[in-house]
Amino acid sequence: MYVKHLTLASFRNHGSTDVALEPGINLFVGRNGQGKTNLVEAIGYLSTLTSHRVAGYQALIQAGEPAAIIRAMVCHEDRDILLELELNREGKNKARMNKADLPRVRDLIGVISSVTFAPEDIDIIRRDPTNRRAFIDGLVVQYRPRMAGVYSDYERVLKQRNSLLKSAKITKTTGSALSTLEAWDASLVQYGTEIVSARIEIARMLEPHLFAAYQSIATTNNEPRLLYKSSLLGDRLPNFFGEDTEEDDLEYLEDSDRDTVAKLFSDRLEKVRAKELERGLTLVGPQRDDLVLMLGPLPAKGYASHGETWSYALALRLASVELLKKESRTGDPVLILDDVFAELDSGRRLRLAELVANNEQVLITAAVAEDVPVILTATRFAVSEGQVTRE
Ligand SMILES: Nc1ncnc2c1ncn2[C@@H]1O[C@H](COP(=O)(O)OP(=O)(O)OP(=O)(O)O)[C@@H](O)[C@H]1O
Ligand SMILES: [Mg+2]
Repeated sequence: MYVKHLTLASFRNHGSTDVALEPGINLFVGRNGQGKTNLVEAIGYLSTLTSHRVAGYQALIQAGEPAAIIRAMVCHEDRDILLELELNREGKNKARMNKADLPRVRDLIGVISSVTFAPEDIDIIRRDPTNRRAFIDGLVVQYRPRMAGVYSDYERVLKQRNSLLKSAKITKTTGSALSTLEAWDASLVQYGTEIVSARIEIARMLEPHLFAAYQSIATTNNEPRLLYKSSLLGDRLPNFFGEDTEEDDLEYLEDSDRDTVAKLFSDRLEKVRAKELERGLTLVGPQRDDLVLMLGPLPAKGYASHGETWSYALALRLASVELLKKESRTGDPVLILDDVFAELDSGRRLRLAELVANNEQVLITAAVAEDVPVILTATRFAVSEGQVTRE
């Protein structure tokens, strides 16, 4: 699949942008702050409903404007689909496909599949579990778009359960809270189990692709591996004070079988119930888990070198492309490389160029065109003050 045409209205610094794109490589060049990232961010957002650099969508709407529009004509095997997303500062967002309103905005997810690699991705390796959960969850949803509904159901249940626990803590009415809590537990376990199982399954499917991608870009041949550290395992009471920190005593969960996970989850909830009422917070579940990125015998976090960290992050994205490609009925995902060539040494630049050159569509941004290997400079656009012109 590829994006044939993109129209932006009041999207970040793009007041009104209208551009025809090509299958294959599209390179966007311009000085800093001109709107290159904004342009590819729009396509990423239309595909995943998440931005690679900001949470939420308010920042995507042009300052002073009430709404932003992203419209894209995407093409797969000579079939065109027109997608449109309207982001409103106040009131509901709206999504349309071939001019018909979609019942929910999230029905857009996965119509265009895409993978973005950007400098921010080294946070997946170096920073908190939130970054790694966002990575794996993003991939789960791209791979199985119907999971988007499960995530939103889980978040809703978790929120309600947390406010119940909180009010029980404040009013000390543990008796009546307990019976209401039980009703919430069933849904928490149901949706949470789907999330945990899907994460473990995706991580397992991704691993061989990660291994291959890492070998092809890194200079050392360490083996990357993915382990799932879960709050559903172990007997110890979680040591959680609200912040998102690594918990060294969590154990690895390998079994993605739904019944097994559901049983672990309910048993664990029972064990931590008293503690949850005391703290006024849900203490176990997918929101407390971590995807541990191993490199050889050690976790990449805290041990990998700068170069290894970059290679790992890049390998995670390239592996994602391969995984999505294998299962996809709509061709390759659109690959977005935002500002990455400047950060890579010349050997890695070339290897990356060779690896991505044959993807159905690749969108590349760079401040300096010379940083991008020549094989990736076929179709070139200049971006200046939110205006895009084909060169
Ligand atoms: N909501 C918004 N409304 C208006 N302008 C915005 C908005 N969000 C971002 N901008 C502007 O967009 C510009 C940044 O654009 P972008 O991040 O696409 O730059 P870039 O071309 O990728 O630059 P670099 O090479 O530095 O990565 C900034 O000048 C910023 O002020
Ligand atoms: Mg940029």
